[in-house]
Amino acid sequence: MQRYETKMLSDCDEDIAYAAQLLKNGEVVGIPTETVYGLAADAENESAVKKIFEAKGRPSDNPLIVHISDISMLDRLVSVVSPVALKCAERFWPGPLTIVMPKSDNIPYVTSGGLDTVGVRFPSHKTAQKIISACGKALAAPSANLSGSPSPTLAKHVLDDMNGRIPAIVDGGSCTVGVESTVISIENDVIRVLRPGMVSVDMLKDVCENVIVDEGVLEQLDITAKVRSPGMKYKHYSPKAQVYIIKGGTRDVVTYLEEHIHTQKDIAVDFCGELAGDHVRVLPYGSTAKEQAQNLFAVLRNCDDIGAERVFVRCPDKSGEGLAVYNRLLRAAAFRIIEV
Ligand code: TXA
Ligand code: MG
Repeated sequence: MQRYETKMLSDCDEDIAYAAQLLKNGEVVGIPTETVYGLAADAENESAVKKIFEAKGRPSDNPLIVHISDISMLDRLVSVVSPVALKCAERFWPGPLTIVMPKSDNIPYVTSGGLDTVGVRFPSHKTAQKIISACGKALAAPSANLSGSPSPTLAKHVLDDMNGRIPAIVDGGSCTVGVESTVISIENDVIRVLRPGMVSVDMLKDVCENVIVDEGVLEQLDITAKVRSPGMKYKHYSPKAQVYIIKGGTRDVVTYLEEHIHTQKDIAVDFCGELAGDHVRVLPYGSTAKEQAQNLFAVLRNCDDIGAERVFVRCPDKSGEGLAVYNRLLRAAAFRIIEV
């Protein structure tokens, strides 16, 4: 793999023009979005897209999401837009929703992971929109982490994972949503949620009453499984530390931690300091689903930075937008749940 001196760019017009030029030249650039940072390349340029897979160490059958900055860009990318897809696009774009649709011939199979469909998203982050527009191309962009690691919500996280592997990162500040987009497919007017996000099941039901949540959202899938969303079967979002989900009332969880935590290398992640005890190191990740989504990945990366070996994360509420937080945490914890 080619080595680069990775430049940190700002979101000023000059730097955006520079990033757009790199993208036009077939290079990969780290870009901010409202969900998480993405590792972008021209979605129609096979050799550029291959560089994304190399930089991330991503399995080649895991498809990439293609980002647009205007709904008119959709025509080049997909062969059909169903009425339900159009309604969802009109309601939730720009925003954290990816719609899987039949791909057009302009999308190479490298981008779609060998599938005949492509996931498209119109991000609401102004800098992302400016970069796409300046480049004039739809951009394929997975989350900008090394494959398997927590997704990056700060430019610094991208640098930590991608230093030397890509020529540039555009710093657009901290991602406000914090977990990746909701991914949906549509079959016979039924919306199937392949990955939950901050566009919740209830919000989707507002547009179309038939919404189902794919079994892969809450279950552990075998690596050989034939799944609707290939990303769901791979190890995901894991820091170096072993993560456990801890489930139970505050008093019971505190008792469990006091009995089982004996070293500074064990860390508890709670909602807002409620698990703090004499011997327990605690980091909060928020009391609402929105706060938890915004903070989860940064807190997991923080645990690694301070040398944690085991991390006990308090189980979030799974309802509504909380489903997205729980889905990421389940994978970060490799489905290890302690019930007290
Ligand atoms: O918020 C996001 O979606 C971020 C930002 C950068 O936009 N991107 C992101 O991409 O999370 P990535 O590659 O880390 O996750 C894409 C997920 C994977 O689970 C993949 O399997 C699924 O979307 N996906 C993409 N295209 C698909 C398709 N055609 N059919 C089914 N699943 C698809
Ligand atoms: Mg990812």
